[in-house]
Amino acid sequence: MAVEANPREGDFAAPPADDSGMRRRYACDTTRLMRVLVTGAAGFIGSHLCERLLLDGHTVVGVDSFTSYYSIALKRARLARPELARLSMIEGDLADAAFCARLFSEGGFERVYHLAAQAGVRFSLESPQSYIHSNVTGFLNILEGLRHNPVQHAVYASSSSVYGDDSPQPFCEDAPADAPVSLYAATKRAGELMASSYAHLFGTPLTGVRFFTVYGPWGRPDMAYFKFADAIVSGRPVDLYGGGLLARDFTSIGDVVEGLMRLGPLPPTGPRPHRVLNIGAGQPVTVLEVVDALEAALGRPALRRSAPLQPGDVTATWADTRAFEALTGFKPAVSLQEGIERFARWFETEWQSPTQTGTQHSA
Ligand SMILES: NC(=O)c1ccc[n+]([C@@H]2O[C@H](COP(=O)([O-])OP(=O)(O)OC[C@H]3O[C@@H](n4cnc5c(N)ncnc54)[C@H](O)[C@@H]3O)[C@@H](O)[C@H]2O)c1
Repeated sequence: MAVEANPREGDFAAPPADDSGMRRRYACDTTRLMRVLVTGAAGFIGSHLCERLLLDGHTVVGVDSFTSYYSIALKRARLARPELARLSMIEGDLADAAFCARLFSEGGFERVYHLAAQAGVRFSLESPQSYIHSNVTGFLNILEGLRHNPVQHAVYASSSSVYGDDSPQPFCEDAPADAPVSLYAATKRAGELMASSYAHLFGTPLTGVRFFTVYGPWGRPDMAYFKFADAIVSGRPVDLYGGGLLARDFTSIGDVVEGLMRLGPLPPTGPRPHRVLNIGAGQPVTVLEVVDALEAALGRPALRRSAPLQPGDVTATWADTRAFEALTGFKPAVSLQEGIERFARWFETEWQSPTQTGTQHSA
């Protein structure tokens, strides 16, 4: 692993440690360029975030272990884009404590976006160990890295799935979220509680972001909208679990990246500097509406087939976006039609094009 010397841009003046010796604080400056670590950089959200951070002039180090949960070729293709040419990429497993400790001690990071995880609700019934490996052990190693190498703000990915099926709609951050319906959700909630304890013990400024069904170009082939697009263009039936009446607060990748960028310079303060925030469109749509939007964008009809609800699925997600908006002044603005249209253009020109991403992808 090679983490090059820290080429800090601008003045970086860290206040001295307080009397506990552990609680270092960095002044909040929304414009200063920073040295940023993005974990899960080869992933869907991570690769888009890296692109935006680089565009804004930050120095970005990306980490990913390139898990085989879905096409590794797609992960490599995301990183091969010219927009990511200045990304310093490190391949490694965050569940490896020694790797992670060295990453942080040599990295000189000022801000961290921890997005690496074993994602997906249904796969957590097949491969529970991979969720503990990445989402619990991997996250613990990140927290340890932050404990010994304080940063201005660490933002980490949580999920709307923590709300389960019992929380009142729209989902508000103060819901107990103590009845997860999948192991994936349980590991994400565990991560939030672990983060809260590290904030309390070591003053680590942490924000957990609960994402709501993020979609868009370079997305994840395991997600329903992506599978639907594949089925539509190849004339296969689209499986509508629960008759297509499941509702999801679909959030475009552009809105998610904008939200993460706004959040970065706003670390929580106080004796336990930890918070969780929803990043969601705030407008749930049914799966049937998503199929309609895909049909329109791809210009082809879908063959609809009803399928039973799958274990682990929640019936609806709907983000209360007020807390995020109050803090950042930002509310997601991309409509489902606009976002699906952007995804469909990418799907047709890149995913299906052998020259760009290879023919060996399997959704
Ligand atoms: N996309 C969504 O709709 C959504 C919704 C809710 C929460 N999230 C969360 O947001 C984050 C990013 O999601 P995404 O959609 O980009 O997923 P993704 O699977 O595309 O990206 C995650 C990346 O993390 C990497 N990774 C996994 N385990 C690792 C480990 N131990 N060490 C290093 N790298 C590892 C994977 O190889 C992958 O590239 C995840 O934490 C996910 O749980 C996503």
